[in-house]
Amino acid sequence: MPDDHYTHGHEAPVLRSHAWRTAANSAAYLLPHLAPGLSVLDVGSGPGTITRDLARLVAPGRVVGVDRDPGVVALAGAAAAVSGDDAVASTGDDAAPSVAFQVADAYELPFDDGEFDIVHAHQVLQHLSDPVAALGEMARVTRPGGLVAARDSDYGALTWYPPSRGLDLWRTIYTAVARANDAEPDAGRHLLAWAHAAGFFDVTPSSSTWCFATPADRAWWGELWAQRTTTTAYGRQAVALGLTDEAGLATIADAWANWAADEDGWITIVAGEILVRVPEAPFRGGQHPDQKWWARRDEALTGVGAGGPGLPKGPRPGSSDTIAGAPGPVTGE
Ligand SMILES: C[S@@+](CC[C@H](N)C(=O)[O-])C[C@H]1O[C@@H](n2cnc3c(N)ncnc32)[C@H](O)[C@@H]1O
Repeated sequence: MPDDHYTHGHEAPVLRSHAWRTAANSAAYLLPHLAPGLSVLDVGSGPGTITRDLARLVAPGRVVGVDRDPGVVALAGAAAAVSGDDAVASTGDDAAPSVAFQVADAYELPFDDGEFDIVHAHQVLQHLSDPVAALGEMARVTRPGGLVAARDSDYGALTWYPPSRGLDLWRTIYTAVARANDAEPDAGRHLLAWAHAAGFFDVTPSSSTWCFATPADRAWWGELWAQRTTTTAYGRQAVALGLTDEAGLATIADAWANWAADEDGWITIVAGEILVRVPEAPFRGGQHPDQKWWARRDEALTGVGAGGPGLPKGPRPGSSDTIAGAPGPVTGE
């Protein structure tokens, strides 16, 4: 099982940002598929605000949030207890939401085959060195005919106004740190390829955005990212990797503050989404034997190793947009 390094860490500004998220602003593509009584697993649930919304939407269905980090699991559980979202467990009210949080890794979920109707991950695959293996594992614990849902942002597709060298530097540095962690910051555009590499071909792709352009939204987002740059894990990694120094981080934080203070300031955060219909039995699963084939293609076409370090470098493959060994339907043979 890969022992990945999570780029953001779980310090206060990161958690404040993640706790803003709701099912409505972060999982709208999934909402039409929810119904009372369905069971949902939320993988990489973080502070659990989306998870708890999902529990309200499928109540009295069972909802479980899992995360690799014990501290954030404890926080999510405490918030659910305070809000009463774990009511089935605590009161026995069988029409109330039922949510529980536990420590688990996306690569090795401690659940039976087909245990959930829906398995969801928001902004998680972008942090994994092997998102294809994680998708396969998510599908394993989804019932045949059920859904795997994933949404990830795409840093390369973010746009902002006004132009800012400091924000250009922010994106360059964030991207380099994520790639040093063998993760893919442009995950949104890769989701379909990852689903195919995992052996899934009944996939509904979509995209959606967050937009921060009102004074209040800008103040919130700009302050968060200024703090995240100077006080949290990705900034420290950037310095440790020699990508910048404390002065560089201060320049980026100032750029966020200036952007927030600009009455014309605008940012659009683009995210990709996939809904994967898990094949009916007897699906035997299976992944393309070269799980990083998509990264080899990225590198062949652009010269940029999108899958992180360690990928063999080679000549551009024969065809214009494919490489030998790209996945076809998985037979399970
Ligand atoms: C960007 S946060 C997203 C949290 C939540 N889904 C949300 O959108 O608010 C990513 C979360 O995935 C968790 N994570 C990273 N790698 C993981 C893994 N291999 N298994 C389970 N959780 C993981 C991190 O600890 C972190 O809490």
